[in-house]
Amino acid sequence: MSLDYLSHFGLSAQPFCKDVDDTELWMPPSKQSLVEELTDAMHARASALLTGEPGVGKTCVLRALRHALTPANFRLVYCQNTTVGRRDFYRFLCLALGLQKAQTAGDLFLAVSTHVEDLAKERVYPVFLVDEAHLLHQDPLDHLHILLNYQWDSKPLLSIVLIGLPELEDRLRLRRNRSLYSRLHHRFAIGNLVPDDTSDYIRSRLARVGATKDLFSADALSILHEAAGSSLRDTDRIATAALRTAARRKKKIVERDVLTRILQSESQSEDRA
Ligand SMILES: Nc1ncnc2c1ncn2[C@@H]1O[C@H](COP(=O)(O)OP(=O)(O)OP(=O)(O)O)[C@@H](O)[C@H]1O
Ligand SMILES: [Mg+2]
Repeated sequence: MSLDYLSHFGLSAQPFCKDVDDTELWMPPSKQSLVEELTDAMHARASALLTGEPGVGKTCVLRALRHALTPANFRLVYCQNTTVGRRDFYRFLCLALGLQKAQTAGDLFLAVSTHVEDLAKERVYPVFLVDEAHLLHQDPLDHLHILLNYQWDSKPLLSIVLIGLPELEDRLRLRRNRSLYSRLHHRFAIGNLVPDDTSDYIRSRLARVGATKDLFSADALSILHEAAGSSLRDTDRIATAALRTAARRKKKIVERDVLTRILQSESQSEDRA
C-alpha cells in the first residue's frame, strides 16, 4: 500500500493506524475522567463494567488504564478469547499468571484462586480484563463471581473488568447473571461521539505525526463525523482514504468533495457485495 500521502502532507508516520502507543492515545477530558474513575476503582479492588458501541474506543481505554496502573502493585491479565468454555477460560488465566497447568476445571480454579491469595500477601493485586465479554459463554459467566469471593466473600483481592458491546449489560441484568452484575459496582458506558469529538480526534492524531495545521476543512470533518458516527475505527479508515485521495489530487487540504467521493464509492462497493 503506497504511503506517498505521508510525504505529500509532511507526516512522519501513518496518522490513523491502530498501532498507537499507550502514552500517545487521544485523551479528551471525558476519556481522562473515565480512566481516572477506572483507576480509582482498581485501587479500591472493585470490579467494573465498560460498554460501548463497536470501535468507540473501549480497548484503547484499557490501554490507558494499563498505563495508569503501576506494575509493582497490579498484575494485569488481558483476556480477549472469550468464546471458550469454563475449563479453557481458567486454563488461560493459569497460563497468563504463569501457573502450572491443571487438568480439571476445579483444579484450575483452585490454582488461580490460591495464586491470587499469594499475590495479595505480596500486596500485588490482579486485574482480569475480559474484553469482548458479550461473547462469553454462559458457563464461565456463571462462575466468574465465585472468583471474587475470598475469605467468605469478605476480602477484595482482585478486580474483574468486563468490556463489551452495550448488549453485555442487558445480558448481565438477566436474573441468571445477577450475582456477577451486583458485584460490578462501577458501570461505565462510553457514549456516542459528538462532531467536536471527531474534529478533536482527527486534529490530535494528525498533530502527533507532525501536522502543524488543519488538513481537513470544517465541512469535510462534519461529513466524516456523520459517516463514521461513533466508530473511531471507521473514522480512521475514512480519514486515511481521504488523505490518500487528496494527495493523489495534489490537494493540501481535504475538502468535502473528497469525502463525498469516497463515501459514494464505498456505498457502491457495498451495493455490489
Ligand atoms: N483514545 C484513543 N486514542 C487514539 N486512537 C483511538 C482511541 N480510541 C480509539 N482509537 C482508534 O479507534 C480504533 C478502535 O478503537 P478500539 O479498538 O479501542 O475500539 P473498541 O470500542 O474496543 O471496538 P470493538 O468493540 O470493536 O472491540 C483503534 O484501533 C484506534 O485506532
Ligand atoms: Mg475492543
